[in-house]
Amino acid sequence: MDVAKIDTILRKYNGDSDFLIEILQDVQAEWRYLPVDLMRHLADELGVPLARVSHIATFYKAFSLEPRGEHEIQVCMGTACHVKGASRVLDAMSRELGIGEGQTTADKQYTLEAVRCVGACGVAPVVVIDDEYHGDLMPDASAKLIARHMKEGAK
Ligand code: FES
Repeated sequence: MDVAKIDTILRKYNGDSDFLIEILQDVQAEWRYLPVDLMRHLADELGVPLARVSHIATFYKAFSLEPRGEHEIQVCMGTACHVKGASRVLDAMSRELGIGEGQTTADKQYTLEAVRCVGACGVAPVVVIDDEYHGDLMPDASAKLIARHMKEGAK
């Protein structure tokens, strides 16, 4: 646990527990998950029960208790995308990455997630990779997209 980094985050919010969610967001961004020992440290420093920190960490989908990949792949499973074959897109990506939905690759590069409507129904089916939208994505194209992303990331 990098205490100096945690202290920097705490200082940013003057150690004020009213900013617990914002503090956890910063921790999530830095570590890509919320380690238990780190949540315990935050609870101590902020003077709040660990149960409160844990509750927030498990309530919001933005937080993860498991290490997440450097790149997040979200396959939209909303109605419009579902009708246009989102399940096959998810399967193709899953095969290409060698992981199931909700999992992270062993090298911690990619996390694959099924999500609800991402607000781009007009170009369904949609996949979002690190905030970049890819629409009208058929299964073959989605597998190629992942393969290309992995290759470019390896450079
Ligand atoms: S249902 Fe997929 S973008 Fe809306």
